[in-house]
This record gives sequence, C-alpha cells and structure tokens, in this order.
Amino acid sequence: MKALRLETRVELFEVGELDAVYKRLYEAAFEASRKAYAPYSKFHVGAAVLLENGEILSGNNQENAAYPSGLCAERTTLFYAGARYPDVPVRILAIAAMKDGERVDLITPCGACRQVMLETEQRYGQPMEVLLCGKEVAYLVPGAATLLPFCFGKSDLIR
Ligand code: THU
Repeated sequence: MKALRLETRVELFEVGELDAVYKRLYEAAFEASRKAYAPYSKFHVGAAVLLENGEILSGNNQENAAYPSGLCAERTTLFYAGARYPDVPVRILAIAAMKDGERVDLITPCGACRQVMLETEQRYGQPMEVLLCGKEVAYLVPGAATLLPFCFGKSDLIR
C-alpha cells in the first residue's frame, strides 16, 4: 500500500495587510452581499471578480421558494462574468457573507461552486485566485483546483 498526501497552501492575511487590489475585491464582495436575495436563509453572500481586462463584476446569492432553484453568489457571479465576457479570464474571485447585518467570520464555498470555479480556471487555462473574506482576516487560495483535490474536470472529457 502506498499513501498519497495532498497538501493545500493558503495564505492568511489580516484585512489591513491586503494589497490594494485584494482590498478592493474584499470590499466589493461585502458590498455585493448587501444586495443578495436571501429571504429564506437570511445568509447574504456576495462575490466579486477581477477580470483580465481590469473590470470588476459582482453578484450575490439568489434564493427561491423552491429551494434548489436558487443559486449561490459564486456561481451567479461566475456565470454572469462568463456571459458578459466569454473570452476574458477571471483572475481573482472574492467571496464574503453577512448574517444579521454583521460580517461573517469566514466563508468557504460549497462543493458545487468549487466545481464551477474549477471549470472557470480550466476554461481559461490559468489560475483563478480565490479570496475568502472574513470579518478580520482573509484567506488567499492560489487557484480553484486547490479547493477541489481529486477533481473531475475538463481533461476527463476533452484531451
Ligand atoms: N451560499 C452561497 O451563496 N455561497 C456559499 O458559498 C455558501 C452558500 C448561499 C446559498 C443559500 O442562498 C444560502 O447561502 C444558504 O445556504
């Protein structure tokens, strides 16, 4: 028997330590969370992306009375970016959440969103950094694949 060890390297920052571009996305993600449509969970998630062309787009979770018909903030935003600029890579995705009007300590994305994040990264053939925004700290993940080890992706279907 052989064992395989998978390692994940994530950088942890105090919010005050973030470089300007990350701070901008941090604020944009929290700002976007304010406009979430989340009457059922009351968990307001926002996401912001920096595109290769310098543009920042944002989105949030959109819930539905038929629960599974709703969509997370990350997917809303990545699909929006893909729809607006299909040929422009996404460089950074920032995610933040608010509950009861307060910034949530830290948000980590659900499995379905990780799969879509992976697709975005593979679609453009370059890493998409992910900034997980907390109240006082932010975690910088170097690429979507880091969040989804042993993944099923594009190369399983297209070689
Ligand atoms: N949600 C997101 O938007 N992103 C996440 O990473 C986790 C969960 C949303 C889905 C649902 O509207 C609410 O948060 C509660 O699960």
